[in-house]
Amino acid sequence: MAEVKFFGNVDLPLEMHKVRIIQKLNLLPIDERLQSITEAGNNTFLLKNRNVFLDMLTDSGTNAMSDRQLAAMMTADDSYAGSETFYRLEAKIHDIFGMKHFLPAHQGRACESLLSQVLITKPNQIVPMNYHFTTTKAHICRFGAEIDEIIIDAGLEATSTVPFKGDMDMNKLSDLIKARKDDIAFVRIEAGTNLIGGQPVSMKNYRDVSKVCRENGIIFMIDASLLADNLYFIKSREQAYKDTPIVEIMREIGSLCDVLYFSARKLGCARGGGICVNNDEIADRLRELVPLYEGFLTYGGMSVREMEALTVGLDETLDIDMISQAPQFISHMVDELSALNIPVVTPAGGLGCHLNAREFLDHIPQSKYPAGALASALYIISGIRGMERGTLSEQRNPDGTEPLANMELVRLALPRRVFTLSQVKYTIDRVNWLYQNRELVGGLEFTEEPKILRFFFGRLKPDSDWQTKLVAKFKADFGDSL
Ligand code: F0G
Repeated sequence: MAEVKFFGNVDLPLEMHKVRIIQKLNLLPIDERLQSITEAGNNTFLLKNRNVFLDMLTDSGTNAMSDRQLAAMMTADDSYAGSETFYRLEAKIHDIFGMKHFLPAHQGRACESLLSQVLITKPNQIVPMNYHFTTTKAHICRFGAEIDEIIIDAGLEATSTVPFKGDMDMNKLSDLIKARKDDIAFVRIEAGTNLIGGQPVSMKNYRDVSKVCRENGIIFMIDASLLADNLYFIKSREQAYKDTPIVEIMREIGSLCDVLYFSARKLGCARGGGICVNNDEIADRLRELVPLYEGFLTYGGMSVREMEALTVGLDETLDIDMISQAPQFISHMVDELSALNIPVVTPAGGLGCHLNAREFLDHIPQSKYPAGALASALYIISGIRGMERGTLSEQRNPDGTEPLANMELVRLALPRRVFTLSQVKYTIDRVNWLYQNRELVGGLEFTEEPKILRFFFGRLKPDSDWQTKLVAKFKADFGDSL
């Protein structure tokens, strides 16, 4: 991978694209930001985007699209059945993953719903996985199975030098197979493990898991939603793959599993989803469900325009300049924050920079949602919208007790090719100010708590008047600056 070196003593990520369409941003005065987050129940999901300056909630459906993607949208073939657009997408997917069947779906969680329905076949089944994603777990549990997370120990250590913290622990997988082989519905590996800081999975681990699953006749599924970043990390951190073309890495991954699904809101920078299957029987069962829940087999709930954009977006995933942009920006952010001794997840992963709220706010107990409090405080002092990825994102146990999350993170997602370096510098500056004033931040308490996926719509209030004090300190330090 060729990199541009600077003459001066700096090491900066350099954008290999230029901006041709822009959208104006709004940065409200701090009093209005406090009012907005109060109205949103201290839940950044409930903020109105017009009140947000830098939207770092997610990269889902918010990656910048390329000129080629937009141009392709104009060529879409509008037909309910047999659209030319679908065949172009199918051919591209076949080309890059080399898998036998492709079934479209409207987004990633729809794939999870269909796959859980087809593959969970009896009571008391388990799904071993490196780590869960919120919607994945919800669908698997909805069909009566349980998940078992068997990530390597380093995966749950916020700071580490292990390059592939998303790897599955092979000893734990073997033990589980010995103990409960017949109860395993399938084994799932999530590329770029979302909830533990976008940490990648090594090719070696994909190969090892595949081998064990094949030896034991167990279905091996890959969630490829965050594969783009993971491909970059395989190329940059796994010596044997340094010179391997990206498409060959993708084909190898496709050859190792039985099922691969993805959210096209992430992979391919469009909006949609899809399931690739090597096994004929699973494909047949899914084919019955897609028209029932998603749409006809040649669109599956996606708009034809998005499908054209996805075909081009997947093609652009083979371009190292494209897949390296976000990880390099994230790495810059992680390095700068680490240099200021601010606790962040290391090594830098994909998807975003993850603040370690448990250490950042070590005076707030997990029962008072430190990651939620940090996301709320950061919005108040900067207009930046991050996402809580901690105890709030968990679901209460059936007995009403609360499972405390392994990690309390605030994700500052960097949608691909959206933010400039000075916006990233602003973010670092405001996070630094907040860290210097962290003792002013207090906890949160629920005022409304939905039963399922509570982090989406739950409302909370501060446990004291800490937000007013934070605003006063900001004004004292920044005067009339926004
Ligand atoms: N799997 C992973 C690893 C994801 O990150 C997501 C979505 C999904 C599945 C579900 O896909 O949103 O298209 O239904 N992650 C988004 C996020 C929501 O913000 O990280 P979807």
